[in-house]
Amino acid sequence: MAKFTLPDHSKVVPGRHFEAPEGAKRVKRFVIYRWSPDKGGAPTRDTYDIDLDRCGPMVLDALIHIKNDIDSTLTFRRSCREGICGSCAMNIDGTNTLACTKPIADMNADVKVHPLPHMPVVKDLVPDLSHTYAQLASIEPYLKADSPAPSRERLQSPEEQALIDEASSCILCFCCSTACPSYWWNGDRFLGPAILLQAYRWIADSRDEATGERLDYLEDPFRMYRCHTIMNCTRTCPKGLNPAKAIAEIKKLMLARAS
Ligand code: SF4
Ligand code: F3S
Ligand code: FES
Repeated sequence: MAKFTLPDHSKVVPGRHFEAPEGAKRVKRFVIYRWSPDKGGAPTRDTYDIDLDRCGPMVLDALIHIKNDIDSTLTFRRSCREGICGSCAMNIDGTNTLACTKPIADMNADVKVHPLPHMPVVKDLVPDLSHTYAQLASIEPYLKADSPAPSRERLQSPEEQALIDEASSCILCFCCSTACPSYWWNGDRFLGPAILLQAYRWIADSRDEATGERLDYLEDPFRMYRCHTIMNCTRTCPKGLNPAKAIAEIKKLMLARAS
């Protein structure tokens, strides 16, 4: 599965400490997971005391400030800084969320930042998502229809569109899958909530004609049925989506076609 090695998180040791600049009045401490497969060795947690008057209000702003002004070796992913691309997903104070939409002011104590849990690490806060993307490809996330294409779009009623609105809003940040214990232990075969939400998005699409074959693919002891309704996925989704409900809808469709 992993091109990159899974670090041994049980062996994390304290790392370097970067003190706040002289004269800083609003100091906030960030404790950040650091590990590089190139260097090997035990992962560390580096401590950065930041002057909040020198950075923006979100956790991502603090990470950018650290990289630009304090320690250029810190590695993380980000793109949109608007909660749209999903690339800055990480674990902040024990919760998987988006660094760009997480206000620093929400946290009273030191801010602890780790990569998404139970994933191989490329470096520092960057998880290796290649297996998860392969799982996404496996559900064929695109319209499948054999009927002749109309001269214009394949139309939907507002009610039909409403059925796929929520699943279409998913930004594929994988906060949900990496918060799911079933995915932690069986992620090699269980597709996890993010991918199952996408599977539902195409199953529920009135224009798609491959519902039967999509359900066949999920009819498997691992791919979907390793979901045991733990609900961490829905609790953690930073976009307020409900992948657990989508999985329940797929299970209902499975039952309906079996009866
Ligand atoms: Fe991220 Fe939510 Fe989509 Fe899961 S359902 S991948 S947490 S946006
Ligand atoms: Fe996991 Fe969500 Fe099911 S946390 S077990 S996918 S309800
Ligand atoms: Fe795009 Fe955070 S940078 S979601």
